[in-house]
Amino acid sequence: MTASSPWPRPVLAANWKMNLGPAEARQFMAAYLAQPPAPHAGSMIIFPPDVSLVAAREAAASRPGLQFGVQNIYWEDKGAFTGEISAPLARAAGATCVLAGHSERRHVFGETDEETGRKCEAAARAGLTPVLCVGETLSQREAGETEAVVLRQLRAGLARLTREQVAGALLAYEPVWAIGTGRTATPADASTTHAALRVAVGVILGDPNHGVPILYGGSVNPGNAAALLAAPGVDGLLVGGASLDPVSWAAIAASGIAG
Ligand code: PGA
Repeated sequence: MTASSPWPRPVLAANWKMNLGPAEARQFMAAYLAQPPAPHAGSMIIFPPDVSLVAAREAAASRPGLQFGVQNIYWEDKGAFTGEISAPLARAAGATCVLAGHSERRHVFGETDEETGRKCEAAARAGLTPVLCVGETLSQREAGETEAVVLRQLRAGLARLTREQVAGALLAYEPVWAIGTGRTATPADASTTHAALRVAVGVILGDPNHGVPILYGGSVNPGNAAALLAAPGVDGLLVGGASLDPVSWAAIAASGIAG
């Protein structure tokens, strides 16, 4: 048996990408928190740009359950690595989570499976939760390679973690062709891939009944969030564009009641 996941479902995560500076982050938080709290008992994690992390976190001090993370780290803890931040630095700024292997890191910045694995290891070593992202490109999907690609990314991403660290991690399935494109995987598509990922994590943990949450991401919006959250095996959402507006983010959070 492995430890159960410390992450109550649904897990709703906002990836702001390279948007919202400190003042905008404060404005977002004020507007979001002015709305009624989401009527669910899940988890919420916001991933601002690093420069806005402290501002966002301080602006959300009245909502202690709200967690914050960084979108990327380097795997060394400190030193002469200009332009990078480490897991311990992210933690010192109040982050509890780290996105690892987001498709934009893989496809815009050339991050390899091996590097993603090192980042997950560094995050876990610092006591942060790695949020490992996996997903196939359109050509890989059309070639019938979806499962092979996401399972390769999954195994490489988790390879350096202990079983206990895997049991405490979060996963996100984000088909590359659905990110920022307005094309969403159907709930059935998401369920199929989530099921394959869940089985593979069960093999790693030696526990088919593990509770590692698997989030879906890719063009999630207030109109499709509830249906995606209701799909079997979808434990949460990782939202980019629609998380930048406090009203649409609150609407997505409210749909978590179905999860
Ligand atoms: P999107 O981005 O919601 O804008 O498609 C999702 C993500 O990249 O995490």
